[in-house]
Amino acid sequence: MEIDKLYLGNCLGIMKEFPNECVDCIITDSPFKLNYTSGSQTSSAKQDKWQGNLIAGDKTANIHNDIKFSDWLPDAFRIMKEGHFYSFVNDKNLHHFINEAEKVGFLLHNILVWKKNNKTPNRWYMKNCEFIVFMRKGRAKPINNLNASQLLECRNLSGKEKEHPTQKPIEILEMLIENSTNESDIVLDMFMGSGSTCLASKLCNRKYVGIEIDEKHFSTATNRIMNCAIGKKLKFKMKTIELTDYERNIIQKR
Ligand SMILES: C[S@@+](CC[C@H](N)C(=O)[O-])C[C@H]1O[C@@H](n2cnc3c(N)ncnc32)[C@H](O)[C@@H]1O
Repeated sequence: MEIDKLYLGNCLGIMKEFPNECVDCIITDSPFKLNYTSGSQTSSAKQDKWQGNLIAGDKTANIHNDIKFSDWLPDAFRIMKEGHFYSFVNDKNLHHFINEAEKVGFLLHNILVWKKNNKTPNRWYMKNCEFIVFMRKGRAKPINNLNASQLLECRNLSGKEKEHPTQKPIEILEMLIENSTNESDIVLDMFMGSGSTCLASKLCNRKYVGIEIDEKHFSTATNRIMNCAIGKKLKFKMKTIELTDYERNIIQKR
């Protein structure tokens, strides 16, 4: 496994090549089941039990949205050292995600709630929250900031700020990274999308490894990391950061 590197490809194959216990922390945002079929919304209230679908090529979410939790969680557990694991998930998939993660050996620490500034209309309470499942591998280790609480209030990205349909705010990721790792630790995101976790890791002086299957998102992630590395203005931050050899190489090839 190369450190401070973004991989283009299917995380299932790429993770198989990684040795056991090679990353300190995983923070990810995997595809999950959506509650509509063929692009048209079906009311979940009409179903006895919510099932959802994994939909590849769904234009309303991501093109690649057809991987099951049980496909990738075993390798996530294998390649992580003892430490903290975070995964964004919505309300409908929360229960299933925790079940599958516990099956491979992760243990639940907490469920963090991200309270957003925007609301999605819904007849069963409007939705203004997302969830971050916080688990551990091995012994329980406290987070670094013992004053941090379960409710995270952070503005969602909107309009042109978003370079990916489900892009997550850097501020939240930085908080998770600072709480669960130390400088120079390695953070992995195997569904990196636009590379938010890798960028936040870099801003926190951590090492990163990112994997993305979609070429367009991969290129967005590479550009975001490079722009950060060469000290260009970021959406919410201005920091000048040292380039790694990998990043220097990419810039030279352009
Ligand atoms: C929910 S998005 C992540 C968005 C990310 N948190 C951000 O801030 O941009 C999930 C990403 O996983 C990617 N993906 C889906 N299946 C994959 C696979 N098998 N291997 C690697 N990436 C995959 C999708 O293309 C998508 O960009």
